[in-house]
Amino acid sequence: PEQARVLCWLWTPGGPWREAIEADVDVSVSGLWALAEVRAAARAAGRPARVQLKADTGLGRNGCQPADWPELVAEALRAEAEGLIRITGLWSHFACADEPGHPSIAAQLDRFREMTAHAEARGVRPEVRHIANSPAALTIPESHFDLVRTGIALYGISPAPELGVPADFGLRPVMTLSASLALVKHVPGGHGISYGHHYVTPGETTLGLVPVGYADGIPRHASGTGPVLVGGKWRTVAGRIAMDQFVVDLGGDEPEVGSRAVLFGPGDGGEPTAEDWAQAAGTIAYEIVTRIGTRVPRVYLDDENDENDETAGNEGKGGQEDRGRSASR
Ligand SMILES: Cc1ncc(COP(=O)(O)O)c(C=O)c1O
Repeated sequence: PEQARVLCWLWTPGGPWREAIEADVDVSVSGLWALAEVRAAARAAGRPARVQLKADTGLGRNGCQPADWPELVAEALRAEAEGLIRITGLWSHFACADEPGHPSIAAQLDRFREMTAHAEARGVRPEVRHIANSPAALTIPESHFDLVRTGIALYGISPAPELGVPADFGLRPVMTLSASLALVKHVPGGHGISYGHHYVTPGETTLGLVPVGYADGIPRHASGTGPVLVGGKWRTVAGRIAMDQFVVDLGGDEPEVGSRAVLFGPGDGGEPTAEDWAQAAGTIAYEIVTRIGTRVPRVYLDDENDENDETAGNEGKGGQEDRGRSASR
């Protein structure tokens, strides 16, 4: 833990720089305005800020352009000489690391080496240099430098589904999203389902009501396409996903009300995965796992034994308050 560090990198003017400095959080600087704010905050805090300089090596998003880098480095060294900051890192971010062989990868690496070399030649002594995200960590060894910043790989999800499933990268999805059926009922054929009646029952059937909706982060774009495991079978979202709920056609099956509906998980139990939902909604799995709303209770599991215990426990708990929803691990 003594070695653990936090880097906060997406700032706006007037942000809590001083609080970050006092909390020993590294702050990222991409331009002169940010450096000026850090200097003032460090003075106010009465201690030097730990600053990482961010280079735009080609992503075209955050970071300092190569043309502006010499001035930023010179100013940062001045602030370091004044004792107001310590330059702890030099870093950047890839645009196309999930497309092996994309020419921008080599170009960004070259530029990163040039920009770090420029800073180091002028006296910057960074503790860390870093540029790799999950796809780079998994497929571009020469991009690792001193540390890697994995996001989606921590969820165990493939950063490039067109290149391979999680297991191909040595990953296993860790997040499961499930809910308890809030209603099971018989309906006749020709019954319109949910807003707009975009699904009409083809014949007499049973319906299950799943109490999660777009306010919980379930993408409305998956209306009519999202897959759900109920009673050992894949079902498909019938009609529109509403704010707090959606319906599945159970095809005459009669699972008990309260039965578990698994939207996604690792896939081991036959359930859909976040990648399946991404495809159903026309997006990427990154968006599926990060958009789950705050009112979905999180249950953190330590190991396989806990997982079994917790699942059993949740089944019983699914009460009114959390409507039986949970996202585990
Ligand atoms: C600056 C930065 N570093 C690291 C990551 C992690 O990327 P990934 O989830 O592909 O590992 C992101 C994700 O957007 C990012 O913006």
